[in-house]
Amino acid sequence: MKTFLNHAGYFLLFLLAGCSFERDVTDISFVIGVAQANLSEPWREVMNSEILETAKTYPGVKIVFTNAGDSREKQEADIDKLIRSGIDLLIVSPVESREIAPAIRDTYELMPVIVLDKAIEGYDYSLFIGADNHLVGTQAARFVREYIGEENGTVIEITGSADSLPVTQRMHGFREELRESENIKLAGSFSADWLRDMAEDIANNHLDLFAASDVIFAHNDAMALGVYRALAEVGITDKAIIGIDGLTGAEGGIALVEAGVLKATITCPTGGREAVNRAMDILQERDGLPKKIFLRSSLITRSILAERDSVPGSNAGRSSGDPVVLGFAQLGKEGAWREANTKSIISAAKRSGITLLFEDAELSQKKQIDAIRSFIDAGVDVIAFSPIVETGWDEVLHEAKAAGIPVICSDRTVKVADETLVTTYLVADFIEEGRRAAQWLLEETQDESDVRIVEIGGLPGSAPAIDRRKGFAEIIDRSASHTIIDSAPGDFIENLGYNVMTQFLVRHEDIDVVYAHNDDMALGAIRAIEEAGLEPGKDILIVSIDGVKAAFQAMTKGKLNCTVECSPLLGPQLMKAVIDYVNGEELPLRINTEEGVFPMEVARDFISSRPY
Ligand code: AHR
Repeated sequence: MKTFLNHAGYFLLFLLAGCSFERDVTDISFVIGVAQANLSEPWREVMNSEILETAKTYPGVKIVFTNAGDSREKQEADIDKLIRSGIDLLIVSPVESREIAPAIRDTYELMPVIVLDKAIEGYDYSLFIGADNHLVGTQAARFVREYIGEENGTVIEITGSADSLPVTQRMHGFREELRESENIKLAGSFSADWLRDMAEDIANNHLDLFAASDVIFAHNDAMALGVYRALAEVGITDKAIIGIDGLTGAEGGIALVEAGVLKATITCPTGGREAVNRAMDILQERDGLPKKIFLRSSLITRSILAERDSVPGSNAGRSSGDPVVLGFAQLGKEGAWREANTKSIISAAKRSGITLLFEDAELSQKKQIDAIRSFIDAGVDVIAFSPIVETGWDEVLHEAKAAGIPVICSDRTVKVADETLVTTYLVADFIEEGRRAAQWLLEETQDESDVRIVEIGGLPGSAPAIDRRKGFAEIIDRSASHTIIDSAPGDFIENLGYNVMTQFLVRHEDIDVVYAHNDDMALGAIRAIEEAGLEPGKDILIVSIDGVKAAFQAMTKGKLNCTVECSPLLGPQLMKAVIDYVNGEELPLRINTEEGVFPMEVARDFISSRPY
């Protein structure tokens, strides 16, 4: 990890746009620069104050803020000034994610960078922290559907700045979910640039439309309040208005819900606190650093607030000296990846002083459910499991919830009707892995026409098999020269990969590429290709996922062309989540791990340092 200008004993005076700071490194160990997009939105003021308040809990940490006033050019200049002033780490909340990406990439070559709120494409930053805005939109629409019920109804949407990524994601989530109710129509959509007064003007200009609608959904609470004001002015005070943010404070969404101004708000944490805590993990080179953290958003209504006040906190009933007990239900042992995953969990638990109850479900969902039930009976503090398939978990997870035991999904996701059944997901981005495998292939074969691909899939119904297929197809479908001619499951098991490939070779005369959902199956396919008298890696290109050591060995021999990394080393992050939970911290909704792409040309450079 690089830190900059930390030479002991020298004294520095920096003057930045709108701020200045002094550094005497005998007192200050780290300086964190914060390039804020604007301060016209209350949500961003809260973000900055969370950053400042959290930083105060770390002696020797100094924060330097800049405010871009919503100008991309100004934000680039701010970042430049912060770098030249000698910061150790940059936190940036981008004005606009696409345009600011090059400046973030350049900064990342010099120091760690945390991107807050608006995600940028690729992985050229240390960590992204933000809400899942698609889910936020979905949660809002779920409330609207429930509120309107079976009757015909209309809803109006007030969005933030038209070209901003969170707006697009919230709109998609909202509309997709709304389409599930044919009786509800979207009667209008207006952009008010996140601003209360603009929303008030819009509502004033379309009073009849607003007065006639059943629900008004605004992309933030400030705009929701603007609409309320316009309607209250003409005596309408009972309209169902919902917003997003759920900030505390006088005009914050929580107070507005309590006062009955808003029917509901969806919380959208700013990530300020998390950013400083993670910045310190990065600067102090701690274990278990993720790549992306998606923060939890929750529906808040008056009745939820009342209920919340009566529920005890996450560590209620524990005395501080009690050892933390984690029940972990592993799905089985399909191959090298899983072995490394199990080792990582067992050793991280030991290092963290966590008592681990470990069960191996031997690739049976029933056994995994039984293991979870045994952890509930044992009254563990936290349950974690790596779900063998996506569906079929509702009942047992309801039982865990009823017992007050939080559940963490490690490595894979589940599909459950009630999203509160899972406290947090500690997973890879499987769709992105599939996309990256396809992107590598398109580049590698860009001059070729009629590229015929066979796909060896993972276990049907499992999250990685579903998502890796989806991500790969999404990119391949854009090319007229590439076709997936056949696909069959190999369940992530080497021998099954061999069997599937043997059948493909019988069925198809000219296969150009094998895409395998994991390295083990690719290694099985290599055997089948060699037995058929062909040269893997040359006659047939092979791209797979995981990045296990055996895949690197195959690459150095020219038999495998590329592997996309999916890290099994989830133990440290899992233990951190468990400890954070027990200490009463709210866990994020989803934590994504870091992943690289390794074509065969670089295999020799990395093989000796591969940890699994
Ligand atoms: O869920 C992760 C996947 O499961 C790995 O890619 C695969 O090797 C394992 O079976």
